[in-house]
Amino acid sequence: MEMNEHKTVEKDELTGDKLLSGHEYDNIRELDNNLPKWWVWLFIITIIFAVVYIFVFDVIKVAPYQQEEWKKEMADAGSLAPGQSALIVNANLAALTDKSSLEAGKDIWLKQCKVCHLEGGQGLVGPNLTDNFSIHGCAYTDVVNTIIVGVPEKGMISWKTQLSDDQILKVASYVMTLKGTTPPNPKAPQGEPCK
Ligand code: HEC
Repeated sequence: MEMNEHKTVEKDELTGDKLLSGHEYDNIRELDNNLPKWWVWLFIITIIFAVVYIFVFDVIKVAPYQQEEWKKEMADAGSLAPGQSALIVNANLAALTDKSSLEAGKDIWLKQCKVCHLEGGQGLVGPNLTDNFSIHGCAYTDVVNTIIVGVPEKGMISWKTQLSDDQILKVASYVMTLKGTTPPNPKAPQGEPCK
């Protein structure tokens, strides 16, 4: 029978590699080599990766697709309503009290804020930040939020594009230290008394 011819594995005379039965063209016979180990492992890893990927993105959906991530970032960057800043929603915010943060905050204050609120925070174009009154809220998170969104209709820009989150937190912390100080010529209180 013809099948019997192929029962024993034939080897190449020179290399000793296995010959593939039935593949012979013009006296050239194909070798039955194993794939290199690194190649096989790469293949297995891609399969494992695909399974994990499908599981994470399509089954338990713990990670957003790039498209959704992009949409969310665009929404965050767009119109920020008060209280909707990613900074406030995501962080459990408390004013920084360490010396280096407050010094960094003061530097920002002198460069960016002094012109309207004056050096001591007694107020000029912007309101007095040393008294116990506030238009946009007394809490640290309110101050952070006001800096992020600004009060454009009254002349204070949104600082979100000018300052990093880190800088905003530091300058807001510095603003908190101005409360209760008594610089000369304070502007009259505006807004609601703080509790
Ligand atoms: C171009 C002038 C200008 C600059 C510069 C400016 N502000 Fe203001 N600031 C204002 C005005 C105007 C208001 C809003 C007053 C109102 O709502 O009637 C304001 C409001 C605030 C408030 C809220 C006060 C309240 O009573 O609730 C804070 C806090 C504040 N600014 C901090 C800062 C900080 C920090 C900086 C620097 C990063 C800064 N401002 C820079 C003009 C300015």
